[in-house]
Amino acid sequence: MEKQLEALKQTFCEELGHARKVDDIEPMRVKYLGRKGALTSILRQMGTLSPEERPRMGALSNALKTFMEDALAKKSEELMRTSKVSGIDVTLPGRAPRRGGIHIINQVIRELEDIFLGLGFTVASGPEVEDDYHNFQALNIPEHHPARDMQDTFYFQQGILLRTHTSPVQVRVMEKGVLPVRIIAPGKVYRCDSDVSHTPMFHQIEGLWVEEGITFVHLKGVLYEFIHRLFGKDVPLRFRPSFFSFTEPSAEVDIGCIMCKGKGCRVCKNSGWMEILGCGMVDPEVYKYVNIDPEKVTGFAFGLGIERIAMLKYGIGDIRMFFENDLRFLEQFA
Ligand code: PHE
Repeated sequence: MEKQLEALKQTFCEELGHARKVDDIEPMRVKYLGRKGALTSILRQMGTLSPEERPRMGALSNALKTFMEDALAKKSEELMRTSKVSGIDVTLPGRAPRRGGIHIINQVIRELEDIFLGLGFTVASGPEVEDDYHNFQALNIPEHHPARDMQDTFYFQQGILLRTHTSPVQVRVMEKGVLPVRIIAPGKVYRCDSDVSHTPMFHQIEGLWVEEGITFVHLKGVLYEFIHRLFGKDVPLRFRPSFFSFTEPSAEVDIGCIMCKGKGCRVCKNSGWMEILGCGMVDPEVYKYVNIDPEKVTGFAFGLGIERIAMLKYGIGDIRMFFENDLRFLEQFA
């Protein structure tokens, strides 16, 4: 009987070694340990043994039973873990989804919105696919103006284009005929241009305040407050006379270089100043297109590039980084 147990153990081990899938285990348990199984039939012979032999054989067969049970359990677990058939390893740690964040440009937009909401502005928007009328004509940009050139503007067809600035929102808001107007309009704009400081799509924020009695002083007041809230109270501003067809008079605004505090560096090309926005008093020509009487109200408008603000604020040297979607870059601002 001892030899039978020995032989049984050997065939069991061999067979178990060939088991390839979890489903192979249960039939083996039945075959070796079941009521009609191999071990049971050996145990049936117990009766034929002498009383002296019985306890030893009893112990030996019990040990084999435990051995087989353990071996089956272990193998089953191992197959569960590696089996290609079941395919799922329930013991593996889960794959956690990456946590998203707000894109740096959207963070800056929110910050700008917060500042202007605090100054009594509301947020307006307009379409990115614009018509020639709102993007150019109603802004007093004449038919053959170079800004309309194919080289700057993406055209779909005659008269339909991707807006090249957020200024058409000025026209759309004033068209509604509700005064006073005090809005900002952040959004995407498009120009056919690409290098370290230009991408074909970028963001601007437009501002417009039209109301009785608005003067250039109000414009200056709003812009000083805005820049001081954004970059700090000691940043100086400088208004330079400029030209836009939809504002008169017009100005470009420089701020003291954020990087070198006005001492002169690479970023400000040693001038100590950086240009950051365009602005002016709404040109009476524009009011004609939107049926507003320039004898009754006046207003100012301004527009600035959001990427430029983000680059200055975070010391980013290449505008293209914003849109390459390299997580190593984006995650720094998450
Ligand atoms: N739209 C002008 C630009 O894109 C900026 C601007 C807006 C200038 C409003 C004056 C008033 O350059």
